[in-house]
Amino acid sequence: MVLGILGGGQLGRMLALAAHPLGVRCRFLDPAPDACAASVGEHLVAPFDDEGALARLAAGAAAVTWEFENVPVAALHRLGGRVPVLPGATSLAVSQDRFEEKQAFERAGFAVAPYHIASSLGELRGAVERVGTPGILKTRTGGYDGRGQARVDGAGDAERAWQALGGVPAIYERRIAFRRELALLGTRAGDGAIAFYAPVETVHREGILHTARAPAPDIDRATLLRAERHAAALLETLGHVGTFAIELFDDGETLLASEMAARVHNSGHWTIEGAETSQFENHVRAVLGLPLGDTATRGHAVTVNLVGAAPASEDVLAIPGAHLHLYGKQPRPRRKLGHVTLRVDAEDELDDRMARVLRLLRQ
Ligand SMILES: Nc1ncnc2c1ncn2[C@@H]1O[C@H](COP(=O)(O)OP(=O)(O)O)[C@@H](O)[C@H]1O
Ligand SMILES: [Mg+2]
Repeated sequence: MVLGILGGGQLGRMLALAAHPLGVRCRFLDPAPDACAASVGEHLVAPFDDEGALARLAAGAAAVTWEFENVPVAALHRLGGRVPVLPGATSLAVSQDRFEEKQAFERAGFAVAPYHIASSLGELRGAVERVGTPGILKTRTGGYDGRGQARVDGAGDAERAWQALGGVPAIYERRIAFRRELALLGTRAGDGAIAFYAPVETVHREGILHTARAPAPDIDRATLLRAERHAAALLETLGHVGTFAIELFDDGETLLASEMAARVHNSGHWTIEGAETSQFENHVRAVLGLPLGDTATRGHAVTVNLVGAAPASEDVLAIPGAHLHLYGKQPRPRRKLGHVTLRVDAEDELDDRMARVLRLLRQ
């Protein structure tokens, strides 16, 4: 069986590694000749809107999925007549556009940071006035890993922020003094059933995910169930099929929805070792119409991202419980090159071993 994937980065690579034991081969479409998924599947090097390449991606495939948010929605529509495309165009369109996404969160019952659309500098000035400062200006589309964002510390910063992002359509949102960040991950099957993973506590550095720990400590059960209910409502309106992640701010009282990934997500890499079935395998199962696997947690896990540089493999692997994942990408500042997941049975072992990994990153 063949699964077509739009995008050939590390998420595609890990999807293929999970698909392989199920007898599923992955075929990638990615314009980058050095796409890191190429070593684990067939790689079509062409733009996402290349008609011939889309036809080759779909040829004989049981389904096509995507691992990259900035695929044009039109590519999904073009493929749609030929092969099931999951998640569908609605999931992609909403998660691509921060304004649509915020509105979808609110309709589903989530609280969100106060925000206002900013389609012009004039509108931004009004938005800053209404929403207040400090805040963040974010491009509506195309942002990731903290890119496409500018700080607004006071009303006088509006013009500088607007210029810094290149004067493109944006939204302005209030900066939240959160106690911590969380991610809610799961996989939704074609019949609408959702298997949630344990909630994840995430830490970002310069807008890039640094660590993800699961299960997140000290989560109020009623609060979690409410968030899961809102997530279920959101995914239902999208008709979403596949894995998803919803990033949340915990301000001590409420969980505010911040961002959604309608795909496998960095905050779920711990599931490879830390859950009965990984987010990648469950995504493959969902989009191929196979039964979902158990999402139960195996002990405790923390993932540490290797950004910009990776320590020596032998040093990482000398740490008990450490699992190393290198993506085969050329080092570059701010680039995700791999991750380390520590999995342990007893939670009290986690902090000490994580400190060892973090020490290696500082060397
Ligand atoms: N309104 C906000 N208040 C406080 N911190 C924020 C806010 N928006 C974003 N951040 C910080 O920046 C990180 C990245 O922002 P996010 O909106 O998730 O964009 P992306 O992940 O696409 O770069 C968040 O995980 C959070 O740490
Ligand atoms: Mg994010």
